[in-house]
Amino acid sequence: MPHEESNPACGRTLRSPSEPARSTSAVTPRADRARRLRAVSVLAVGAVLVSACSGTESSGGASGGYPDRQITMVVPFSAGGPTDTVTRLIAEPMSAKLGQQIVVQNVEGAGGTLGAGQVARATPDGYTVLMHHIGMSTAPTLYPQLPYAPLEDFETVGLVTEVPMTIVGRKDLAPNTLQELVAYVRGNPGGVTLATAGVGAASQLCGLLIERAFQVDVTEVPYEGTGPALTDLVGGQVDMMCDQTTNTTGQITAGGVKAYAVTTPERVAVLPDLPTTVEAGLPDVQVSVWHGLYVPADTPPEVVQALTDALTVALQDQNVVAAMAKLGTAPVAATDVTPQAHSDQLRQQIDFWGPVIKAASPTPGG
Ligand code: MLT
Repeated sequence: MPHEESNPACGRTLRSPSEPARSTSAVTPRADRARRLRAVSVLAVGAVLVSACSGTESSGGASGGYPDRQITMVVPFSAGGPTDTVTRLIAEPMSAKLGQQIVVQNVEGAGGTLGAGQVARATPDGYTVLMHHIGMSTAPTLYPQLPYAPLEDFETVGLVTEVPMTIVGRKDLAPNTLQELVAYVRGNPGGVTLATAGVGAASQLCGLLIERAFQVDVTEVPYEGTGPALTDLVGGQVDMMCDQTTNTTGQITAGGVKAYAVTTPERVAVLPDLPTTVEAGLPDVQVSVWHGLYVPADTPPEVVQALTDALTVALQDQNVVAAMAKLGTAPVAATDVTPQAHSDQLRQQIDFWGPVIKAASPTPGG
């Protein structure tokens, strides 16, 4: 029989998976959230019920003495890729500031939506944190059945970094310039392969912009992250990719891939010879990949603040700044490492990308 369990330590009401959904006319956004997340998987919700209670017992309440145990930071893409790289850079100084170990967990698949969904369903106690990027703002348009709502199912912790993208090809691809690449792809409609991290990934978003600007289709080859995609590009198994400098800079410099352009208005200091898409005559291919940290909605504000403070310290760490610079990026300004700046950015980006993506008419399922 359906029942409600009031769990004061968790600060919210949990209902059994068998309970029917309430009428939509009466639901608040929070109740709507609970129903949406429950719809993902009855089994998953059952697991949340268990972990919510046991987690609270062991922590003695999320807001008291947080953190008193290990924190899991979920990366929704493969290990070794650009999101993973940025996460591991900040995890260490955040861990030092918080006084607890941070374990990075890669939960890849479906363009980052599987990992984000896992964090949306986690106990809101600050022990499960999500690193995500621009994909948080594009997924609602790309996935009509997205099982979480970015603006309602998460608390924003702060922005982290914004990374330029690069258009790269396998090293023996014939074209040497972006204009030659356009002609080459147009001469092989559908015959050129583009590696992406799936629908919802930044690489796939850039691929959409490329297809629109080139006015020709390419054949997408989805991976669970651009770490493995880059390996295949270097190995010549795919033809091209658009990906963040945090992943491509090393191989561009080493000659493992051929670079055509950077997708920002300015050139990147570590790749001074690489023209921008504006210089190369394709000003519509402009995108950079912003990242932010999230925790599940209803996480206590003091816990969010502790994470924001730790993120602030991490982004001021000179080792982090230097490592990011080598990869063509930098921490965001200190004023953007706030929950408010981050949620403003998320809202603005959802509004911005929705019409762009609809105009490009992609189909979900990467
Ligand atoms: C993307 O294309 O969204 C990223 O490169 C994913 C990743 O971190 O692998």
